[in-house]
Amino acid sequence: MNNSPFVYGRLAQEGSFMDREDEAASLVRDFVNLTNTIIISPRRWGKTSLVRRVGNLTVAANPKSRVCYLDVFNVRSEEEFYEKLASCVLRSTSSKTEELLASAIRYASSLVPSLTIGDPVNQVKLEFGRKELKKNADEILDLAEKIAVDKGLDIIVCIDEFQKIASFVDSDSFQAKLRSHWQLHKHVAYCLYGSRRHMLMDVFTNPSKPFYKFGKTIFLEKIARGKWPPFIIEKFRETGKTITESQCLRMAELVDDNPYYIQQLSEEVWNRTTKVCKDEAISEAFNSIVRINSGLNLALTSMLSISQQNLLNAIVNGENNLTSAAVLDKYQLKNSLTVLRAKKALVSLDIIDDFGRVVSMEDPIYAFWLKNYYFNRTL
Ligand SMILES: Nc1ncnc2c1ncn2[C@@H]1O[C@H](COP(=O)(O)OP(=O)(O)O)[C@@H](O)[C@H]1O
Ligand SMILES: [Mg+2]
Repeated sequence: MNNSPFVYGRLAQEGSFMDREDEAASLVRDFVNLTNTIIISPRRWGKTSLVRRVGNLTVAANPKSRVCYLDVFNVRSEEEFYEKLASCVLRSTSSKTEELLASAIRYASSLVPSLTIGDPVNQVKLEFGRKELKKNADEILDLAEKIAVDKGLDIIVCIDEFQKIASFVDSDSFQAKLRSHWQLHKHVAYCLYGSRRHMLMDVFTNPSKPFYKFGKTIFLEKIARGKWPPFIIEKFRETGKTITESQCLRMAELVDDNPYYIQQLSEEVWNRTTKVCKDEAISEAFNSIVRINSGLNLALTSMLSISQQNLLNAIVNGENNLTSAAVLDKYQLKNSLTVLRAKKALVSLDIIDDFGRVVSMEDPIYAFWLKNYYFNRTL
């Protein structure tokens, strides 16, 4: 049993969710007002946790609202998407198994859902005939609106990793179909979010794409460094341990304020602390995280071309002008075209982020490992 008060790799909820008060309050207003929203940020900055939190707050603020969550990360086709959407809408609008069964029959009967009542938790599995799904696409896309009207509800459909739909076969016409239905809904709002900034920007900000200006776009920022100490200090205190503010700030700095790694580092430090946190515990904990990830990082790096690796070397060494003659020469990058190509590839692999003018590494532990181990093998 792990009694650590920190959470990572799972949703940060209730006691483990902190700050984001402004973002949460503003999103709750959007959900309550049924405004469509789009949330974009790099991986592990807290989108999924925030949307869940906001969903709970919305239901508390408006008991007539229902929020359904759909993660399309593993969805590969239109049919699968319809199946997941239908079942998530039916589930979130039914409080009991009987109601779910009744709704499935009433609203989705043409889809011949097969209902398997599983043990031991009396879980109902909704399965639809795949062939029927595409034929009934229009019906499924309007299912939420129909149920909302019939039951007097406001429904918020939250779709995580939305960029995935951009990789479907014939995605533009699929997106056009989604939009043509969803924009007519009066009792349903959509919150679409994901991590691949470039793909999502293309979906939502390209005037030639169907989802252009579909909703309010929010670029989620990192949680400010100064917010972490009270949170970490309190978690230590609750479990009979102490840590200082400056130690917490140092931890946040070590992982470049990445929320996932701050929680992981806090846990590793907490594990190494009996009562009062020592500075050595922080360095040991950090090194252990770097070590734990080194196998994966090595595998990732060995997949990259030499130019891509050379460019990463320049980036982790803090070079700003990546196409300058000095940088090209120092890091053995052939010419500026090589840099542009390598940069594009690294962006599409989610390794770097080139938003704004600065290029930054998405994973601070990977950046540290590259700089201090991989490119520094003489040490
Ligand atoms: N508001 C928050 N408070 C505390 N920890 C958070 C918060 N948001 C994110 N985290 C940490 O970051 C991790 C990743 O969050 P997640 O919501 O899955 O991010 P994303 O969906 O952007 O990839 C969580 O498991 C948690 O450790
Ligand atoms: Mg997520």
